[in-house]
Amino acid sequence: MTHILQIDGLTKRFHDWERFSPRAKTVLDGISFEVAPGEIFGFLGPNGAGKTTTIKILMGIIRPTSGTARIMGHDIVEQSQQVKQRIGFLPENPYFYDYLSVGEFLTFCAALFGITGRAAAATTDRLLELVGMRHAARLPLRKCSKGMLQRTGIAQSLVNDPDFLVWDEPVSGLDPIGRKEIKDLMLELKRQGKTVFFSSHILPDAETLCDRVGIIVGGRMHRVGTLPELLKDSVSWVEVVAEGLPAGFAPAGAKTELIAGQSIIRLDDAAGLDGALKAIMQAGGAIVSVNPQRENLESYFARQVRSAGNL
Ligand SMILES: Nc1ncnc2c1ncn2[C@@H]1O[C@H](COP(=O)(O)OP(=O)(O)OP(=O)(O)O)[C@@H](O)[C@H]1O
Ligand SMILES: [Mg+2]
Repeated sequence: MTHILQIDGLTKRFHDWERFSPRAKTVLDGISFEVAPGEIFGFLGPNGAGKTTTIKILMGIIRPTSGTARIMGHDIVEQSQQVKQRIGFLPENPYFYDYLSVGEFLTFCAALFGITGRAAAATTDRLLELVGMRHAARLPLRKCSKGMLQRTGIAQSLVNDPDFLVWDEPVSGLDPIGRKEIKDLMLELKRQGKTVFFSSHILPDAETLCDRVGIIVGGRMHRVGTLPELLKDSVSWVEVVAEGLPAGFAPAGAKTELIAGQSIIRLDDAAGLDGALKAIMQAGGAIVSVNPQRENLESYFARQVRSAGNL
């Protein structure tokens, strides 16, 4: 087995019954990609792109119209119990039993995997600690905040010590500290040799975390690859920060903005850097810094979505 997840031509059509129309809406249009063991894979795409639909198919909640997907070499439609026991799933909108406390809920989830008694108590304690919810162990789930519920959802996905994590929007509803903690948790899981497949809109998080990302737009896989691969054809430029320049100064081929007394000079072509630096000094300016810049995943992604919309 080389891939932990292998998706091949996955297609899903929904019938639009609400409008009394038998016309099918194609929500996933033949998507294909793979996830290798031990990697963190970010499944990125705008609202309505088809991320949750894909994840629901992978988890056996809905069936594909056509195409196949294999988890750990097993076809997902067969849904072997053995494979399920090695998966941890965080749904997009987890439904909780309101009247259980966080601790009771985790103990209940442990029981579903046959973990009971002292082992269940130990598992619950470990998970509460892991997701920073020890203080809320006795709090009923109906009294938890959105972020607390999200942490509980992540904890329940780890109850069976799974090898493959499938998380639908794991950082949604979390504050910046919470996002950082979940990111660190993903890296820790990766260090333990586990594979993490997660969907997100929070691109800067994906940027410093993922081994590879897949961008899905309108039910089609737009790009799949490592971030350096994907950002290879991204836009780059050089930014020179200088002081003491006369108002309106701009070297040839550059744009200048004056911010807090400093000139921010943007050169779209790095070949013009030598000439620009000379021109700045000749004009009596002092160079503060020279910063090569590259388009980040966020703006790259926005461009991809725009160009997909124009297809
Ligand atoms: N049961 C359904 N019947 C009809 N259409 C559906 C159904 N479930 C999802 N869709 C449609 O499929 C498309 C993809 O939805 P999906 O939930 O997979 O998107 P997503 O990428 O997860 O979006 P988000 O980022 O908002 O969670 C949407 O247009 C949605 O309306
Ligand atoms: Mg979704």
